[in-house]
Amino acid sequence: MTSANLAYHERVKRILPGGVHYNFNMPWEEVPLHFVDGSGSRLTDMDGNEYLDLYARFGAMILGHRNEEYLEALQSAMSRVLCVSHCDFDADALEAMNAHIPCAEMIRFGLSGTEILQAALRLARAYTMRNRFLRFENHYHGNADNVMGGRVVDPRVPTPFDFRGDYRGTAGRADGIMAEQSYMIPWNDIERLEEFFAEYGDTLACVLTEPVAVNGGSIDPAPGFLERVRELCTEHGVVLIFDEMITGMRLGLGGAQQQLGVIPDLATFGKAIGGGGVPVSALVGRREIMRLLESKKVIHAGTYNGYPLGTAAVAATFAILGRDDQRPLRQMRDRVGELQRVLVETATEAGLPLVVQGPAGVAAFHCAGQPLATPAEYGFDVMGKDILLAAALQRHGVLVSSVSRIYPNAQLSDDDLEFFSSRVGKAVAEAKQSIDEIY
Ligand SMILES: Cc1ncc(COP(=O)(O)O)c(C=O)c1O
Repeated sequence: MTSANLAYHERVKRILPGGVHYNFNMPWEEVPLHFVDGSGSRLTDMDGNEYLDLYARFGAMILGHRNEEYLEALQSAMSRVLCVSHCDFDADALEAMNAHIPCAEMIRFGLSGTEILQAALRLARAYTMRNRFLRFENHYHGNADNVMGGRVVDPRVPTPFDFRGDYRGTAGRADGIMAEQSYMIPWNDIERLEEFFAEYGDTLACVLTEPVAVNGGSIDPAPGFLERVRELCTEHGVVLIFDEMITGMRLGLGGAQQQLGVIPDLATFGKAIGGGGVPVSALVGRREIMRLLESKKVIHAGTYNGYPLGTAAVAATFAILGRDDQRPLRQMRDRVGELQRVLVETATEAGLPLVVQGPAGVAAFHCAGQPLATPAEYGFDVMGKDILLAAALQRHGVLVSSVSRIYPNAQLSDDDLEFFSSRVGKAVAEAKQSIDEIY
């Protein structure tokens, strides 16, 4: 850590709690890097150090820094109208999403993922006139009290409770809110899912799931798992919600639902949907359910919902990434696939067991001998080793996201691959040494 950055951090820390904007920073980010410039996949910090940005602000930065076409669209929008409730950018954004996302018959916009998830839960409850929802171990759906962390104590009563040492647990949560509202079971376990539905299915408003368990280690759904979730929801009159906050744009403009061919009733989008420069989230879904908003039966409100810069950003992002049958996204995934191959090869040569798993674009590396089968396997042992490697990568100029995710952007270039290849060897060697010392 160099001098200008440290001094700046001291200045900020006096007023900003912890000197950070959120609490999910990693141990080596205690003193965050303060950046002054970004271009393509590269960032420059206050001391002039250059980094390859595979962190992408938790996956949001999909267009790459200083994407000219995107900046022009934002600047043009800003120069026309900044702060009105409805404007003439809306239709382009709505029609692009409607054309690509299978379940998006109707769409409402918000700002954050956390907020739009709560709107989805409210809508599902109103539609079914039931209260409880099911979520899965080690998934993440924002930082609201009712969806964060928790653990089931007695598997016969699948309600989650706070536990000591839960890094997604929090003091100050409304008492009992998780147990009152939700159930939690392991993901990717069809047998457990069927048992659960047999007992609780008819009392359930909705099932909330990431279609790929990106926050639980980038784990793909087991064959038939999501299909069975879909069937059981339909059978029991339960609304199926896909949280596509991360998979949304990164797996293709139609999201994971299109890639996997399992269509939810509602889905939530955020992060990369606005290109990476401005906050936008969206609740999309079947007309029959979304119409409850039309009749004003269910409230969805927000001062900045559908703000001009946001809808202009969504329209521009779909236009840029959608070009030539989504060529920018395909190229991005191919390039990052090559980068991942180099990482695995380097680790193997160094004798460090390492896998990269999950679809390219939202994949994660794990210092493990074989891919994780369920988010429940992503415990402190693997996570601790992953953190050591991520920290070593950062020391050598490569930034990855928390939970060791590798988030490329559409400007990832051959030059970036060379940059990565020239740094990864030293980082892996250092990480291996630390892991051997500690484990
Ligand atoms: C799957 C998922 N859902 C919801 C959220 C919450 O989104 P936000 O941080 O915009 O509130 C996140 C954020 O990381 C996420 O990964």
